[in-house]
Order: sequence, then structure tokens, then C-alpha cells
Amino acid sequence: MEEAMREGPMREGEARRRHSRERDGASPEAAAGAGRSRTAPSTRALTRVAFTVTGLGLALTLGCSEPTSDSVASGGGDDIEVELCDGETSTRVPARAEYTREGGLAIASDLMAQWKRRNPDAEWVEAEREKHRIEPPADNTDLIGKTQGHTYSRITERHVKEWERELMQLVAEGSQIFHSPDALGSEIAVSCDMCHPDAANTHPETYPKFQTQIGRVALLRDMINWCIEHPVRGELLAADSAEMRALEAYITAQRKGETMQYGKH
Ligand code: HEC
Repeated sequence: MEEAMREGPMREGEARRRHSRERDGASPEAAAGAGRSRTAPSTRALTRVAFTVTGLGLALTLGCSEPTSDSVASGGGDDIEVELCDGETSTRVPARAEYTREGGLAIASDLMAQWKRRNPDAEWVEAEREKHRIEPPADNTDLIGKTQGHTYSRITERHVKEWERELMQLVAEGSQIFHSPDALGSEIAVSCDMCHPDAANTHPETYPKFQTQIGRVALLRDMINWCIEHPVRGELLAADSAEMRALEAYITAQRKGETMQYGKH
């Protein structure tokens, strides 16, 4: 599915260029979206060595409330700390020259194993694995032949198809990003679907709500960005960027039928 989506209008290079914030040491190869595996930027490796030698690594906190690129250098040794979306669970990963999808999956399953031990009742991953498709939007065919305000004199089949085509395109773009460590700019080859198959447990219907790990009321997009920072270690998205719009669309689409319950924890 990921391969098929690659043909879509959201090209990865373009996606990355529009990211709002450049993390330190983003290499030109990464910016060009080359390949699936990533090369650890040498500037960061040097920074890490410097901190190890001087012992200053400990002085830098992991920046849970306000993640910064400094957190990358705060591993304190030859490894990095990857934090889960909950702001509590974390794992240490050896710094590598290259990160592979297998490595990313191992990181994700380690974090999830820890999280499941703390949350034994949460079987959402298994439950949702049965669904591996994008939820279709609402069916509007019953509107064909009717009029709607001043916009359409008469709604035709072509109109209804156009609405659906445009909508599914945005949702599919979101799916592509959600499933792609590269499109997310992950330094460690982790993507959202590794822990949220078909966007399970993202609960878009509960936003906005106060999120302790962020320290304020979060919109869905704020939580998406938090999760891009931890645990994906990707590149933050501008709130109005094409990628953020697509991710919101996909996540919301996957939870079709849920009752809106903003503020629900
Ligand atoms: C390593 C596993 C992992 C990865 C990767 C991951 N998440 Fe999460 N995410 C979780 C867990 C576990 C929770 C639940 C945390 C909690 O209950 O506090 C969560 C929570 C969330 C929530 C909040 C759900 C709620 O109930 O309010 C959103 C939204 C979310 N993730 C989106 C994403 C997106 C988007 C990505 C990719 C950019 C992503 N996550 C990547 C494990 C992961």
C-alpha cells in the first residue's frame, strides 16, 4: 500500500521541504528524501561525543515538555533515548550510522511492550489489526438530483464523485505519511502505523483536551506533532502544512462513526 501511495501527489521530497522546522544536522541526502534508511548526521555524532567526553550530557534534560533538537545530543553516551507519546515510557537505542525499518520496528515493539505491561487492558492493536483499509467517507449519492443552497443548481453524480475523489486523495496522502518513516522525517525509521495500525487508539474524537505531557490543551494537530517528536523522532509540521492537513484527515477518517467527545481521557 505504501508503495502504491508513493505515486501520489504528496512527493516525499516536497513534503520534507515544507516542514516547518529543520532539525539540527539534517543532511542534504535526507532533505532529498533518499532511500528508506537514514544516515545519522555527522554534526550530531560530534556533538554527542563532545557531551560524553565532558560529561555535560546529563546537564541537558530530555526536554519532555518542550522538545528541542538538543534532546538528541542528551543521550549521555553512545546511544539515544526514544520517548513514547505518553511522555513516561522510554527506551535507549544505540546510535547507529544507519537506521533500518527492522530497527525501527524493534524500537517500536520495545516501547509498546513496556506500555502494554503498564496498560494490560489495552488490546487495541490486536483488535484493530483486522482493519487494513481506509474508511470510506459518508455516502452522498442520495443527494443526486437535489439542490443544495446556491452552490449547486442541481447535484449531479459527477459532483458527488468529485467530492469523494478529492476527499479520498487527501486521506490517502495522510495514510502515506502515517505509514512512512521517510515522509515523517524519522531519524530512526519509525512510523505511526507501527504502534497505531489503521490509526487505532489515536482518538481524534476526544480532542481538544488537556494533555499533561504537552502541558496545555491540545488540538489533534498538537498531539500529532508531539508524536512526531516522540517517539518517531521526525520533523515537526507547521499546523497549516499540507502534511498536517493530510494526517488529520487520515486519522479522522479512520475513526469514522465515533461519537465526538471532546475532553475525554
Ligand atoms: C512506539 C509506538 C508509537 C508510535 C511510533 C506512535 N505512537 Fe502515538 N501513541 C502511542 C501510545 C502507546 C499512545 C497512548 C499514550 C497514552 O495513553 O497516554 C499514543 C498516543 C497517541 C495519540 C493520543 C491518543 C489519545 O487517546 O488522545 C495520538 C493522537 C497519537 N498517538 C498519534 C500518533 C501519530 C500521528 C504518530 C506518528 C507521527 C504516533 N502516534 C506514533 C504509541 C505510539
